[in-house]
Amino acid sequence: MTDKKPSTAEIMAMLRKKSAEGASAPPPAPATEASAVPAAASAPAEPAVTPATPAAKPKGTADIMAAIRAKGAIAPVAAAPPAPAAGTPASGTPAAKPKGTSDIMAAIRAKGAAAAGVAPAAASVAVAVAPKVAAPASAGKSPAEMIQAMRAGSAVVTESAKPKFPPKSAAAGKKQELPRRSFPAVFFELICTPYYMAWTLMSAIGGLWGLGIARFMMPNTVLELPSKFKIGSLGDFPLGTVSEKFKASRGVWIVHTDSYDGQNVVYALSSVCTHLGCTPSWLDAEQKYKCPCHGSGFYINGINFEGPAPRPLERVGLVLGADGLLEVDKSLKFQEELGQWTDPKSFVRVG
Ligand code: FES
Repeated sequence: MTDKKPSTAEIMAMLRKKSAEGASAPPPAPATEASAVPAAASAPAEPAVTPATPAAKPKGTADIMAAIRAKGAIAPVAAAPPAPAAGTPASGTPAAKPKGTSDIMAAIRAKGAAAAGVAPAAASVAVAVAPKVAAPASAGKSPAEMIQAMRAGSAVVTESAKPKFPPKSAAAGKKQELPRRSFPAVFFELICTPYYMAWTLMSAIGGLWGLGIARFMMPNTVLELPSKFKIGSLGDFPLGTVSEKFKASRGVWIVHTDSYDGQNVVYALSSVCTHLGCTPSWLDAEQKYKCPCHGSGFYINGINFEGPAPRPLERVGLVLGADGLLEVDKSLKFQEELGQWTDPKSFVRVG
């Protein structure tokens, strides 16, 4: 084995010689194939070029081209530039198809050196570069096939780059179904938010203030007894008596007497002193009303006779109802000095 590389002229001469021998001589028998190798080896420069493997020997231009295409994995490496420029992706370098004689010869040299176990500089570069420059999947393909493969790859990338969400038109056509929640859950979720809690608190405070104002606007009324009230029948009040049954509660005496103008009548006397408004007391033993304040005294019929009282006691209205009951009406006042005791509403005649 020698390290001397065959020149282009030597290789071409060898190829022409082989072609001429193949054209003139009859097809060699299988046994004579082996004898051709020593013949080639007898040439002056043959020993350095003779490959160790008979299959690597080129036989014709067509065979050489076929061998190169078959060994497409080597051709790109041999034809590729020695080193990619900085910043250029290594995987982006396409496999170059041999175009000229120089490319073919370089491939033959690389192939021959590899077969003979020689490590020429080009082969070493190829081996060194090969691990770094990954052989593309399109090695050995024609440019048209590589372009088609690239287009297919870009189509795959385009499909994978599509958004995961369905298109808007399709989503619009499909009805959006929201999860159904119960009313208590929704209500609890609403009232638990700070916004609604603040409004609820403010509403409660406002309501309490409204109730307080409404109560303040309502006066503390004192329930008064009605001015009219039933006191009973005529038989409940005997002649010559003064009933104090309604003095404390209603402020009236019920008097049955005939001492005034000789008429047997029943009437109601107010228990208010005509002096300064004190409440006299009925003294049954003395048959008079006696005021404790200034000593005014009144007869059983209400006529004043002693003390500072300027006038008789006043009567209030009294009527006999259809039901036979006497009814007092304190809204009516009758004064004797004014001649009002003659009013039929101021007494009830008996008999
Ligand atoms: Fe009755 Fe003066 S108030 S006497």
